[in-house]
Amino acid sequence: MLTQTQTTYAVKQSSALSDAEIRTILESWDVADWKDMRTEEFRHRFETSEFHLLSGPDQQMLSIARINFKFKVKIGDVIYPIAELVGFVAIEILKGYGKILLGRIKENLQNRKIEAVGFCKNKSSTYYESCGLRIFYNAVKYLREKKDDEWFTPTEDDDIISLTLDNPAIALFEKLSDENPAYLLFE
Ligand SMILES: CC(C)(COP(=O)(O)OP(=O)(O)OC[C@H]1O[C@@H](n2cnc3c(N)ncnc32)[C@H](O)[C@@H]1OP(=O)(O)O)[C@@H](O)C(=O)NCCC(=O)NCCS
Repeated sequence: MLTQTQTTYAVKQSSALSDAEIRTILESWDVADWKDMRTEEFRHRFETSEFHLLSGPDQQMLSIARINFKFKVKIGDVIYPIAELVGFVAIEILKGYGKILLGRIKENLQNRKIEAVGFCKNKSSTYYESCGLRIFYNAVKYLREKKDDEWFTPTEDDDIISLTLDNPAIALFEKLSDENPAYLLFE
């Protein structure tokens, strides 16, 4: 198990990722439809994302996350440019690498004044809490996403994770309800 000082943290655009890095990311994400995605398609599909990578001394990837900037949140009449944490995995789990990477991402985004949220199932919330993040429990039911011109409530997650929300945004997320939902805009 490597210590934090033995690890390297890097932020890359999809265009800067090597073929080998893209293969490692796709394998770790384990999305059946994406397994055979070609390098150029990957770079294009994720051109508005950043990849936050933790590596070891032999350049081996330890943990990966994507920050999606093709994402905004509309609450009331205001559209907030909040980024989305997604595709967060540790290559070898339970060695502390996920926690190190989350800490580095948080610091990086805060320095750049970028607010970000993620989503998870109830069973993962204690993990994020143990990494010092604020959870809005069972708040995903107050989100709305659009598909085929219809708004629907996403069901694959339960909780919203505040990675780097500032206090005004935290107050907005605390007040979400069926009457005051947040609309997720993937644009
Ligand atoms: C979730 C994930 C990224 C965590 O990374 P990890 O490197 O395995 O976790 P860490 O080793 O950093 O764990 C940090 C701490 O959280 C604890 N922890 C880990 N998983 C936990 C869980 N499911 N519930 C509660 N605590 C947990 C660890 O015991 C550790 O505690 P410590 O700091 O007191 O020692 C990793 O398990 C993973 O890739 N899972 C599969 C993909 C996934 O579920 N991604 C998240 C989608 S929301």
